[in-house]
Amino acid sequence: MHDFSFKRGKLYCENVSVASLAEKHNTPLYVYSHATLTRNFRLLDTALSPVDHTIHFAVKANSNLGVLRTLANAGSGFDIVSGGELQRVIAAGGDPSKCIFAGVGKTEEDIELALKKGIYAFSAESEPELIRINQIARRLKKKAPIAVRVNPNIDAKTHAKITTGTYENKFGIAFEEVEDVYERATKLKHLQIRGLQMHIGSQLTEVGPFEKAVRKVAPLAKRLAEKHGIEFFSIGGGVGIVYESALESGDAKWWRSPKRKNLLTPAKYAAKLMSLLKPLGLRILIEPGRFIAGNAGILITRVEYVKQTGVKNFVIVDAAMNDLARPALYDSYHEIVPLTRQAGHHLKKNQVCSDVVGPICESSDYFCKNRMLPKVGEGNHLALLSAGAYGFVMASNYNVRPFPAEVLVKGSQAEIVRKRQPRKQLWASESIPKWLK
Ligand code: LLP
Repeated sequence: MHDFSFKRGKLYCENVSVASLAEKHNTPLYVYSHATLTRNFRLLDTALSPVDHTIHFAVKANSNLGVLRTLANAGSGFDIVSGGELQRVIAAGGDPSKCIFAGVGKTEEDIELALKKGIYAFSAESEPELIRINQIARRLKKKAPIAVRVNPNIDAKTHAKITTGTYENKFGIAFEEVEDVYERATKLKHLQIRGLQMHIGSQLTEVGPFEKAVRKVAPLAKRLAEKHGIEFFSIGGGVGIVYESALESGDAKWWRSPKRKNLLTPAKYAAKLMSLLKPLGLRILIEPGRFIAGNAGILITRVEYVKQTGVKNFVIVDAAMNDLARPALYDSYHEIVPLTRQAGHHLKKNQVCSDVVGPICESSDYFCKNRMLPKVGEGNHLALLSAGAYGFVMASNYNVRPFPAEVLVKGSQAEIVRKRQPRKQLWASESIPKWLK
């Protein structure tokens, strides 16, 4: 479910017309829905209610201060992977004591910052990291709360580039070795062993791999609770979203239709996992990013040119792979709709097979290929749906293109939560060596 829908032929985010935002703030423009963010948070919260639990939004999915504050207000904790993300959470009014810190390459500086700010726990991904955390904690005269990330060697059955829980991946410590690591960690006096963590991958559309991983790891969590008194078990993030019927999936009725019964929902996720987790008596953590933010955001772009080559109909837009990298990186699908719907828009005769492409000088700079889309012309606007997670956060300045602006909508209110990057800022921290002048 989400809050982007057509009303009288115009695309709305909650009660705000998206075209009015494009006109006011120009494009490319990310637009987020406050209602969708909070609803998705609550759906997970309710699904997990049979167990003592906390939700830690994965900041890497969307780190805009307005989005983080929305989730902090809803009661969310945060899953962070850098000192920068921690500082963003704090700047947004989030609570550092509700942060868990993952990542295979934590620097000394980031560990020190996290210790000083009093995070809930580090998810350590190697033994050298545990040793480093212990040393820094000793120097600061603190005890560092830690969990170890276990790699359960279970295939998440998702895109190879977002699979994390097999021995081919750099993440975590192998399942067979992890108990010995806990044993040795007891000798590191500045560590407080607090939990166990895992994360098998992202955009999982079936509950099976989650269930398999939990079945495998829950007995380990139990033993660690008995031996080392761990208090939590984080089962990571990864719950997938609908990309292909993104617009229709905004409607609750669509979810109830029998054809949709195979889709992963928080209720189904919980139905399989709660009975396995409850007997542990541990606090269960989840680290959702995409599920909360993915369908809560769209990217608006303007058509610059339509170029017909005889072979192709290229719709050249003002957004590019530097604004939304997912199609170029993962061949991922984002539904594309014009902001205004004409009568009969769905009829074949009003559509044309199109490639929507950006202006960047790379052939991977596309948003879709050979897709039937309503005919559009110069100056029309398009919305790329389901762009709220791993959208803006992966933007770059490639081709000296400024970062796009971001707007947060709540009901009838819309506010810029990030201004478009001024062009001059792109080289403001660069300089020309004296000896070249
Ligand atoms: N926890 C950990 C330790 C993670 O590494 C991740 C994601 C999450 C939680 C959140 O996963 P989610 O609930 O969002 O699936 N850029 C890629 C996705 C990379 C995900 C990396 N880790 C994409 O655009 O599909």
